[in-house]
Amino acid sequence: MKALVLKRYGGAKHVEFADLPRPTIRPDEILVQVHAAGLNPIDNVIPTGSFKPIIKLQLPATMGSDLAGVVVEVGSRVTRFKVGDAVFASTFDLGVGALAEYAAVPEHAAALKPENLDFVQAASVPMVGLTSWQALAERAKVQPGQKVLIPAGAGGIGSFAIQLAKLLGAKVATTTSTPNVQFVRQLGADEVVDYKKQQFEELLRDYDVVLGTLRGGELEKSLQVVRPGSSIVSLIGPPDAAFAQKRGMNFLMKFVFSLLSRKIIRMAKKRGANYSFLFVRPDGERLAKIGEHLAASRLHPVVDKVFPFAQAKEGLAYLGQGRAKGKVVVQLVKPVAES
Ligand SMILES: NC(=O)c1ccc[n+]([C@@H]2O[C@H](COP(=O)([O-])OP(=O)(O)OC[C@H]3O[C@@H](n4cnc5c(N)ncnc54)[C@H](OP(=O)(O)O)[C@@H]3O)[C@@H](O)[C@H]2O)c1
Repeated sequence: MKALVLKRYGGAKHVEFADLPRPTIRPDEILVQVHAAGLNPIDNVIPTGSFKPIIKLQLPATMGSDLAGVVVEVGSRVTRFKVGDAVFASTFDLGVGALAEYAAVPEHAAALKPENLDFVQAASVPMVGLTSWQALAERAKVQPGQKVLIPAGAGGIGSFAIQLAKLLGAKVATTTSTPNVQFVRQLGADEVVDYKKQQFEELLRDYDVVLGTLRGGELEKSLQVVRPGSSIVSLIGPPDAAFAQKRGMNFLMKFVFSLLSRKIIRMAKKRGANYSFLFVRPDGERLAKIGEHLAASRLHPVVDKVFPFAQAKEGLAYLGQGRAKGKVVVQLVKPVAES
């Protein structure tokens, strides 16, 4: 089968198409014919090697971690799926790549695809849906009426997290560039700061929750808008000691991460805020719950661009420009009507 693989660390030049054997499945796995695979910024970071201490990959490794497709084989211990089911899944950090014609997906990572979504739309959801849920609902425990700041509202995470925060009953502020102001309003943002014209830290006050989505000092600035007792949940780091502990990392890594996060934790404490780093984990049951909201049109997938499989590298390069408006998805199987 055809797959997009990372041959060795050192950047995008080591990402190539390869012919691999079709994966064989274990008793607790399903074999999925991948119809579409969603791209995420981490797919551009992994090839650089900078995540080596955190994500252990056996190279060559198939790229990607968000997929939607059809079950073509089930393992002997699988109970929730049968051949022919349309599913979607995040295989992030499970050593299973999505940018391949077939993927062996652990049953616990998959959920039935909402029927109202096509494969491209479904493949756009897992990483951003699970991350938003784990950050806002589980970690920050967002309550109705709370004020939530979601910077970079037009991106993959932002376009989903704004919708989820609204679903949880929050008042949502976001930041974006001038051309995307209307777009993020339509997603549900109550306060929109056009960062080309205004500084969000001069306009917003008393926020209960901040989602850390942007590097370059934005996290530190966001501390100026929070109230005592607030939660700062960062997706972009720095990782903290609790994260190292959860991943069973050794003493040295715990020490390194506590050093890296010391400054932001101290700054947050001064404001009475709690800082934590979140690293998304696959969760088929939660994805099924998100799927229910999608099926009922309480949440909507936001797809910016679709690339055919042969142009997956161009898709990664487009995402890497950091201007995506929603999600970038690679299509491996065209629907019959379009083919
Ligand atoms: N820790 C985890 O488990 C986890 C999970 C998922 C994602 N992440 C991380 O979260 C970050 C966001 O991911 P993503 O998928 O949303 O990325 P993305 O889709 O590539 O984000 C692109 C968006 O960022 C916006 N943007 C860029 N600079 C901005 C600025 N200064 N102010 C406001 N908006 C700005 C752009 O909007 P404009 O064109 O309007 O500027 C664009 O819409 C990435 O670093 C990713 O790796 C972490």
